[in-house]
Amino acid sequence: MGVSGGIAAYKAALLVRELMRRGHEVRVVMTEAATRFVGPITFTGLTGAPPVVDLWDARYAGEVHVELAEWADAMVVAPATAHTMARAAGGIANDALTATLLCFDGPVVFAPAMHTRMWKHPATARNVAQLRADGAAFVGPTEGPLASGDVGLGRMAEPDVIAAAVEASVRSDLAGFTVLVSAGGTHEDLDPVRFLGNRSTGKMGYALAERAAARGAHAVLVSGPTSLATPSGVERIDVRSALEMEAAILERRGSVDAIVMAAAVADYRPAELATDKLKKTDGPRSLELVRNPDILAGLGAWREGSHPVLVGFALETQDVVPNARAKLARKRVDLVVANHATDAFGKSTNRVTLVAADSETALPELDKRDVADAILDWVRARLPAS
Ligand code: C5P
Repeated sequence: MGVSGGIAAYKAALLVRELMRRGHEVRVVMTEAATRFVGPITFTGLTGAPPVVDLWDARYAGEVHVELAEWADAMVVAPATAHTMARAAGGIANDALTATLLCFDGPVVFAPAMHTRMWKHPATARNVAQLRADGAAFVGPTEGPLASGDVGLGRMAEPDVIAAAVEASVRSDLAGFTVLVSAGGTHEDLDPVRFLGNRSTGKMGYALAERAAARGAHAVLVSGPTSLATPSGVERIDVRSALEMEAAILERRGSVDAIVMAAAVADYRPAELATDKLKKTDGPRSLELVRNPDILAGLGAWREGSHPVLVGFALETQDVVPNARAKLARKRVDLVVANHATDAFGKSTNRVTLVAADSETALPELDKRDVADAILDWVRARLPAS
């Protein structure tokens, strides 16, 4: 647990106790500034080991930041100040806490605490986005009275909420299962340089694959063309068209436990693929299209019983939930994640409703990783106990 220098550092002691109460071993690394807010001895008393503050301390024989990073299963920074997050986002390792963060390759949770104006500053927003992109999770800040006397967004989340987020970051409830996720749009080629495509960025599918892998699954990502980086631990298969995506999925469908079709698969492709670049003509021109297979409906028809678990998406511009419910029956899938086009495209958050035969759960606007976790929670509940 990293403690950086904000008033909320006094609550870090309560977080240590909460983590220990839940059965975890805790070691503390503090920034110099944190020691001004809460005494290191407090943590020594609670954990039985003195917190690491100064990498130059002669009592540390080896490289203590390397040892701690190897020892820990998860890291939590609470409170995480704007300054410490900026250093972490920049890969700066100028004290024990940031050096340990840079050595650590497991799950990291930040619990930010600062004045609303610091939290809302574009520099902090940038650093938070960078840390998220690097795989870190965030809990809080919450709204309420701040140390300055102002009221606003900036309070550190409560210790029990942070402890739950730390436990969630290390869970391995999908270990032993294979989850196939399709992501991105497809490109349907017209000629050697042109294609028909759509605006899907692939972010939702990538978040699903990332979270599935983080939760211990063998995550297979069948991806249309995107500019996104492969999440760590994910097996990625690149495809271009709907037909290629279908082939990649059919090849693997017999050996997976769940399939989540987050891809925006083109419903049509050009009837012909020109071998040479099509020339422009003076008059209007029409394009003949033929239907692509509906991959998800094909899986629904092929499947016997409820294995593998099948999840589809419904991106609608109107009557979102009724359309999703119709899709659930028509495609014979277990869950349809309904979202509104304006809530989903290109953003890193999404607001969805999980529509199943016997339930309907509307989630608030969440980071796509949290949406992914909610979908995977639903899937996990339909898989056998491992
Ligand atoms: O029917 P609609 O395209 O709205 O259904 C969306 C769902 O069906 C998504 O899960 C999408 O990945 C899947 N789909 C598919 N093959 C298609 C079209 C959509 O698997 N050709």
